[in-house]
Amino acid sequence: MDPGDLVLRGGRVFTPAGDQAADVRITGGRIVEIGRGLVGSRIIDVKDLWVVPGLIDLHVHLREPGQEYKEDIETGTRAAAAGGFTTICCMPNTRPVNDQRTVTELIVRRAREVGAVRVKPIGAITQGLEGKILADIADMKEGGIVAISDDGRPVMNSGLMRRAFEYARTFDLPVVQHAEDLDLSEGGAMNEGAVATRIGIKGQPACAESAMVARDLEIVEWTGARYHVAHVSTARTVALVRDAKRRGLDVTCEVTPHHLALTDEACSHYDTRTKVMPPLRTAADQEALLEALADGTIDCIATDHAPHSPVEKDVEFECAAPGMLGLETALPLILDFVRMGTLDEKRAIAALTRSPAKAFGLPGGSLAVGAVADICVIDPERPVTINSEGLSSKSKNTPFLGQTLAGRAVLTLLEGRAVFDLDRRMS
Ligand code: NCD
Ligand code: ZN
Ligand code: ZN
Repeated sequence: MDPGDLVLRGGRVFTPAGDQAADVRITGGRIVEIGRGLVGSRIIDVKDLWVVPGLIDLHVHLREPGQEYKEDIETGTRAAAAGGFTTICCMPNTRPVNDQRTVTELIVRRAREVGAVRVKPIGAITQGLEGKILADIADMKEGGIVAISDDGRPVMNSGLMRRAFEYARTFDLPVVQHAEDLDLSEGGAMNEGAVATRIGIKGQPACAESAMVARDLEIVEWTGARYHVAHVSTARTVALVRDAKRRGLDVTCEVTPHHLALTDEACSHYDTRTKVMPPLRTAADQEALLEALADGTIDCIATDHAPHSPVEKDVEFECAAPGMLGLETALPLILDFVRMGTLDEKRAIAALTRSPAKAFGLPGGSLAVGAVADICVIDPERPVTINSEGLSSKSKNTPFLGQTLAGRAVLTLLEGRAVFDLDRRMS
């Protein structure tokens, strides 16, 4: 049954042409009109709220198949919808690894059954993420992958990385690098620097990341390929990417909200929820990341949502698995920068919508007449207290637990259908 026209009335609508006070009319899962005084059979009042494209996250760990005790496709995609996301890309470090089409198809099918958000799998670069033999990338592409990555691990072998670039280029797939030179990072559980020395934890140097990016850029220059740097965390990496873009290389990158919001000082109390890879860095790195996000050197904000259970986290700092949740904290954390004036709101929204769509060639990411109605309605002032009961994720590993932030998604529409509705506006 067609429920008829839906009109989001009186919001601040972010379109490619700029933002304007307008109504948005949706029919048959598409945006059919943006303007003033629109009428329809259902009117949703969104006065004082922002109407933006459904958010797109290029970097999520859904843990299914194989580690459903941490997260599964259902809980992970519901967390995504609650965070305002309508499209997420999931990393292949599952058990089994997503290095073949059967696994890709399982993820796609399961995500469709749940129907909360669009899930676009990222396939492995190498079989079993072992860094030895290329995975069957062509076949996985048939199954629906949108990029390749060995995330969780870097591709250390330069010759293999070259072949991955050449192969991916023929399929027009971005190659996503978890940039970490394992010989430089070996044994480091946090950032190498004053804080690590003070608290007696072995660190890993910033150059473990930038050295790998420098190597990759040299190879990309030689082969040509779409290269995307995952979770950029250092000032030096930013400088390398800026230079590569200036030289015209097909390079994009992402930053996580936690690398923007926290520094290695957060690790001072050995809280394993602050242990992530790459590690939280210094205030100087944080400043460089913000500046690069503002000037477009960093294209996207991606969460690197990495759920872990108490089994992996309630242990000594050195032994804990790295990673923190991101899907339900990303928007509140980013809106904080907007409120402080350190990040322009249009740039923030673009980094969560249009830029990731462009980087991986995904549909969506902009509000226009004719576009699919994947929409996120944001209340920029709405207080949100991060607590375990409120999180849709199965895991609770975030250092922001107990904190109250301001600004969140209140309504998420997937093809015009509510997949998250905080205040039951649609029911
Ligand atoms: C990720 C995970 O848990 O899978 N952990 C992390 O600290 N970011 C792996 C990764 O993104 O490298
Ligand atoms: Zn990674
Ligand atoms: Zn990751």
